Amino acid sequence: MLRHFIEPSDFNEREYDDLFRLAADIAKNPSSYAHACDGKILASLFFEPSTRTRMSFDAAMYRLGGQVLHLGDVKVSSMAKGETVRDTLHIVDQYADICAMRHPVPYTQSETVGVLENMPLINAGDGDHAHPTQTLADIFTIRDQKGKWSGLKVGFCGDLRYGRAVHSLYDFLNDYDNEFVFIAPEGLEMPTIYLDHAKCPYKEVDDLKAVIGDLDVLYMTRVQKERFSSEEEAERYKGSYFLNPEVMKSASENLIVLHPLPRVDEIDAAIDDDPRALYFKQARNGMYMRMALILTLLEAKDEITGE
Ligand code: NCD
Repeated sequence: MLRHFIEPSDFNEREYDDLFRLAADIAKNPSSYAHACDGKILASLFFEPSTRTRMSFDAAMYRLGGQVLHLGDVKVSSMAKGETVRDTLHIVDQYADICAMRHPVPYTQSETVGVLENMPLINAGDGDHAHPTQTLADIFTIRDQKGKWSGLKVGFCGDLRYGRAVHSLYDFLNDYDNEFVFIAPEGLEMPTIYLDHAKCPYKEVDDLKAVIGDLDVLYMTRVQKERFSSEEEAERYKGSYFLNPEVMKSASENLIVLHPLPRVDEIDAAIDDDPRALYFKQARNGMYMRMALILTLLEAKDEITGE
């Protein structure tokens, strides 16, 4: 069976540990991995606009010595002629060795993965549902700073309703002994489908300043305006939170601030030099984690095919 990475639960704790060790080694010895994927092709299927994640996958594959095949503009590709995602994936399975796919419709990857016979599939984000490779970047950064991913008080702040990066990180951390503080304006709270399977204690609040002092990790997010039914509706939440030097004064010295990026207006650039602000490092870590993931999935495939 091909190994895929579609939900955080697709790997167990030992496999995550191996992945983080591999990513740490890649970060330390990049030249040892510069030809690890020579001759391999990653298909990059982004059916939704993306800069960071798409570039991060490209950079990861190029740094492994591989090549990247892009879907191109969805409006001019076969999709425009009426081809289904399933068929596109089936075709790409004939061309590439591994595939990263983003789609605006939740669960597209899990619904279409069955068509694949040759290449492992990585979920690069499906609508407002999941974004497990962002979780890899998040946990790698948390592990790097805190030496663990349990026993932490984690605050999620902003658009918790539509933020897929929040949903996947929560799914991961919820399997360990953590505590959560959900900080959101009315209407953008954490969906009940996630709270219904909470295994850790949590509270829901709307005031960031009142709780920041208790947190080990603060996960900031932007309002996901593309998921609202209208621009006006999203506008209502503009400026709900603003993490600036003044708010940071109430935080612990050991807090770490993460953000999947892009930021819009929720973090003041004035805190970028604060050693607690780790979002740019987190983006770099995301690239190393994607390198580790590509290698791991390709190795698992080679074991099956005997390559
Ligand atoms: C996140 C996403 O696409 O969900 N960004 C990313 O992966 N770089 C978060 C966001 O867009 O707000």
